[in-house]
Amino acid sequence: MNWAYWNPVKVRFGTGLFNELAGMIDGRRWALVTYDQPIFRELAARLTEAAGAPLVTISNIETNPDCADLSESCRQFGAAAERPEVIVALGGGSMIDAAKVLAASGGDFETVRRHLVEKRPLDAAAIIPIIAVPTTAGTGSEVTSWATVWDSANGSKYSLAHPRLYPETAVLDPALTVGAPRGLTLATGLDALSHALESIWNVNGNPVSANYAIEAAREIIDTLPRLLERLDDEELRARQMRASLLAGLAFSNTKTALAHNISYDITLKSGTIHGIACSFSLPIVMRWAMGVKPQCDAALRRVFGPDLEAGAERLETFLQNLGVKTDPAAYGVSPVEWDRLVDKAMQGERGRNFIGRLPAKAA
Ligand SMILES: NC(=O)c1ccc[n+]([C@@H]2O[C@H](COP(=O)([O-])OP(=O)(O)OC[C@H]3O[C@@H](n4cnc5c(N)ncnc54)[C@H](O)[C@@H]3O)[C@@H](O)[C@H]2O)c1
Ligand SMILES: [Fe+2]
Repeated sequence: MNWAYWNPVKVRFGTGLFNELAGMIDGRRWALVTYDQPIFRELAARLTEAAGAPLVTISNIETNPDCADLSESCRQFGAAAERPEVIVALGGGSMIDAAKVLAASGGDFETVRRHLVEKRPLDAAAIIPIIAVPTTAGTGSEVTSWATVWDSANGSKYSLAHPRLYPETAVLDPALTVGAPRGLTLATGLDALSHALESIWNVNGNPVSANYAIEAAREIIDTLPRLLERLDDEELRARQMRASLLAGLAFSNTKTALAHNISYDITLKSGTIHGIACSFSLPIVMRWAMGVKPQCDAALRRVFGPDLEAGAERLETFLQNLGVKTDPAAYGVSPVEWDRLVDKAMQGERGRNFIGRLPAKAA
C-alpha cells in the first residue's frame, strides 16, 4: 500500500509557554485575533507588554466565524497601517479559523469568497504565517491547513483549505485551558474524540495517522470524564490537550468523515454546538464502519478491545454518562429526516471519506 504523511507545523507544548510568545513573534509586525472577553483582553495586554503593540487586533468574532463577521474583520485587518508579518491567533477553533481567513484575505474578504465560491486560486505567496495559541482542547485547528467558514444567512458552510494555512507554530499551553467551563470542556473534548475516530474510519487513513488517532481516542475516553469532575486539575488538562493535539495530527492528513458531515446540518438546523453535533452520532457511525476494512477494525480494537459491537455500546454509554443524547430525535430530527440527512451527508465532501456502508433501510 502506498501512503504519505505530512504536517509542517512546529509544535511546542508546555505549561507557561504563553510567556515565550513574544520571542516567537521575534520582532515581526504582528496582528492579534482573539475574543472580546475579559480574560482574553488580559492575556492580550500581557502579550503587548512583552512583544510591543500589535498593528491591529481583531476581536469582532465570537464563535463559528461567519461570512458576515469575517467580512468586517478583513476590512479592519486591511485598514492596518502596514501589512502584518505574522498573525497570533489566541483562542479556540473559531479564533484560529478566523486567523486563517485573515491570513488568506489580503485584507479583503472578497478574495476568500471568490476562492470559496468561484474556486479562484489564492495567492499562496501572500498568505501570512500564523502562530496558533489554542485555549480550548478540541478542534486541532492549530495543526490543520483548513478553516470552517460559516454562512448562516444561506444555511451553509465552506471549508477554506490551503497548504500554506498550516500554522507556522502551534503553542500549546495547557494552563490557558484551565478556566474553560464544563460545557466547553465537554464539547471540545468530544470534538477531539470525533476527529480521532473519524480519521480511523477514513479512506485517507495511514499507519501514522492511525497511531496518533488510537492514542488520542484511548486518552480522551480515559481522561475526559475525570477532567469534567475536576476542571482545575492541571495534569488532566495537559493530558486532554495532548490528546486533542494528537487527534489534530491524525485528521490533518485524513480530514474528517461522516459524523462531521452530519454535524453541519445539525448545527445549522438546531444551533447545537460543534463538539456535541459531531459526536452524538459516533456510536451509530462506528457500527456502520465495523467489518468493512481490516485495518480499520484493527485500529478500533486497539481503542475499544476485541469485541467491536461491545465497543460501540461502550462508546454510547460513555457519551450518555457525560450527558450527551445519542438519539438523533433529541436534536429535532425525525427518523425520516435522519435517513435523508445521512444520505445527503454520505454524498458530502467529508461523508465521501467514510469507509463504511449504510444499512439497507438508509441507503
Ligand atoms: N479548522 C479545523 O480544523 C477545525 C476543526 C474543528 C472545529 N473547527 C471550528 O472551530 C470552532 C469551534 O471552536 P472551539 O470549540 O474551540 O470554540 P470557540 O473558539 O468557538 O469558542 C467558544 C467559546 O469558548 C470561550 N473560550 C475559549 N477558550 C476559553 C477558555 N480557555 N476559558 C474560558 N472560555 C473560553 C470563548 O470565549 C467562546 O465564547 C467551530 O467554528 C468549528 O467549525 C475547526
Ligand atoms: Fe470537529
